Amino acid sequence: MKFFIDTANLDQIKEAQDLGVLDGVTTNPSLMAKEGITGDANVTAHYKAICDIVDDNVSAEVIATTFDEIIKEGEALAALNPKIVVKVPMIKDGVKAIKYFTSKGIKTNCTLIFSPGQALLAAKAGATYVSPFLGRLDDISTDGLQLIEDIRLIFDNYGYPTQILAASIRGPLHIVACAKLGADVITAPLSAITALLKHPLTDSGLATFLADHKKAAGL
Ligand code: G3P
Repeated sequence: MKFFIDTANLDQIKEAQDLGVLDGVTTNPSLMAKEGITGDANVTAHYKAICDIVDDNVSAEVIATTFDEIIKEGEALAALNPKIVVKVPMIKDGVKAIKYFTSKGIKTNCTLIFSPGQALLAAKAGATYVSPFLGRLDDISTDGLQLIEDIRLIFDNYGYPTQILAASIRGPLHIVACAKLGADVITAPLSAITALLKHPLTDSGLATFLADHKKAAGL
């Protein structure tokens, strides 16, 4: 399973990259705004900076919502760096744009997926990734993990190569559940990724090992 970090914060991206387990980055307009990145030139520079840190797979989201504008914006984003994956919303013009980008060899991430039917449409259009938002479904008392399971079944039934990128991950248990369900990728905040490190028995076990070593060595 690939691990992406869901942030536009360069320090957090560097920290995840340094851990040695990072396969990519996802951003969205809200995450860019959170870092205070506004204006075309700054946004472009920021995507380039992210691409300099990570090995591959930098999702950059279009703001446009009409076919012609999505194509224009997406092609400009893709031209920034071969690591860029153009992130396109699940709307009618977005599906058409994904089909176009696929025909041009441009990688896409279809975002704001909340139903199996939306994922199926994006896969048929040739999306490289679909991003089901499981946390936001959980927030409205709908089972987000069930969506991951349903999409996995559909994609496996027909052998769609589109990868399931489980998004809107809120914690380490979401990551483990997605791994059990066969999601191809998770994108998560740094806190959810580093939380995977933690277990109280690891901490107490290590403390005992170190204390026993010190005692045996007469230290
Ligand atoms: O990047 C898209 C998705 O992961 C957003 O997550 O936490 O805003 O629901 P969240």
